[in-house]
Amino acid sequence: EDAEKGGYPHYMLKEIMEQPRVLFETYTGLASSRELENAAKLLSNAEKIFVTGAGTSYHAGLVFAYYMARIAKRPVIPFISSEYLAYRDMDHSNSVLVAISQSGETIDTLQAVRSFKSSGGRVIAVSNVIGSTIPREADVTVYTRAGPEIGVAATKTFLTQVLALTGMALTLAQYNGSMTQNEYRKAMDTLKNAGHAASAGIDRSIRAVELLASSLRSKGNIYVLGRGLGVALAYEAALKIKEVSYIHAEAYPAGESKHGPIALVEDGFPVIFVGVPPREELHEKLQSNVMEMKARGASTIVVGVSGYDDLKGVDFYIDVGNYDEILAPYAVVPPFQLLAYKLAVMLNRDPDKPRNLAKTVTVE
Ligand code: AGP
Repeated sequence: EDAEKGGYPHYMLKEIMEQPRVLFETYTGLASSRELENAAKLLSNAEKIFVTGAGTSYHAGLVFAYYMARIAKRPVIPFISSEYLAYRDMDHSNSVLVAISQSGETIDTLQAVRSFKSSGGRVIAVSNVIGSTIPREADVTVYTRAGPEIGVAATKTFLTQVLALTGMALTLAQYNGSMTQNEYRKAMDTLKNAGHAASAGIDRSIRAVELLASSLRSKGNIYVLGRGLGVALAYEAALKIKEVSYIHAEAYPAGESKHGPIALVEDGFPVIFVGVPPREELHEKLQSNVMEMKARGASTIVVGVSGYDDLKGVDFYIDVGNYDEILAPYAVVPPFQLLAYKLAVMLNRDPDKPRNLAKTVTVE
C-alpha cells in the first residue's frame, strides 16, 4: 500500500498532488477524441438541458451550469441526483441530461439517468471509469482521465470533471455561434494550462495552508462564501472540509449571508471568501461582505486569484495567482483541498477513510 501512495502519507495528498498531471492528461485525451464534439452536438439540439450528480459531482455540475450560461448562453437546470423526482413525470423527448459521476455507479445518479431516459430524454455521462454502469446506459460519454481515485474525498476527479465540462461548454459555444472559431481556439489553448494553474495553486498555498489549518483546527464552524463561479467552488470547499476534518463547514453565496447565516457570526468565527473573476464585477460586492463579517468580529480569510489583495478587513489572504474565469477553478480549489487534508491530519482523522462514508454509494 505504501508503494501505491507514491511516497505520500495518504492517498488524498497523493491525489491532490497528481492534479497538474491528470488535468493535462484529461485535456489531451479529450482533444484527441470526439467525445466533446459528440456531447456538444446533443446539447445543441436540446430544447432543455439538465445537469445532475451527487456530492462533489453535483458541484462540478454547478460549475458547468455557470459556464454554460456565461459562455454558451444556454440556461441549464441543475439538480441533486437524489432529487430527480421533481422532474420525473415530464416529457423529456427534447431534453438532455448531463449526468456526472466519477465512479459511474452512484445509485441516485443512475436512477436519475434511468428515469430521464424512460421519459424520452438523452443522456451525456461524465465519468472517470470506462465501462461503468452510467456510461453504459448513456447516449454519449465524456471521460475524465484522472486515473483511479482511492481517497474517499474526491479531489482530482473534481477538477478533471470541471475541465471536461468546461470543454463541453466551449465546444457548444463554438457550435451555436456564441464564440467565434478564433475565440474558441484561444479558450481551448487556455484550458490546456489547467494543470499549470493547479500546480501554481498548490505551490502558492502549501505553506500558508499549514498556518491557516493551525488557526482553524480548534473551530467548530466555518463559513465559505463566494459569488458567481465562486459559489460552486465554495460548496465544494465546505464539503471537503467537513467530510475529512469533521469540522462543520457551510457554504453560501456571499450575497445570501445577510439573509440568515450572519446571525451565527460572533468574535473569532472564521469566514473564508473565494475570490474569482470577473474581479471588476465582484470585488466591490465581496468587499462589503467582508466588512459585514468583520463588523461582527469574524476572522476573515480570502483564497482568491490576484486582485483581491487590496480588500480591506481581511485577516489572512492566499493569492493563487492571476487567472481568468476559465482557469480560476484549478488554482483556487487545491488550497481548499490541502486545507481540508491538513485539518484532518492535525485532528488525527484518517483523510482517506472518513467515518460513515463510502467511496461509492450504491444503495439508496
Ligand atoms: C466527495 O468527496 C464525496 N465523497 C461524494 O460526495 C461523491 O462525490 C459522491 O458520492 C458522488 O460520487 P460519484 O462521483 O462517484 O457519483
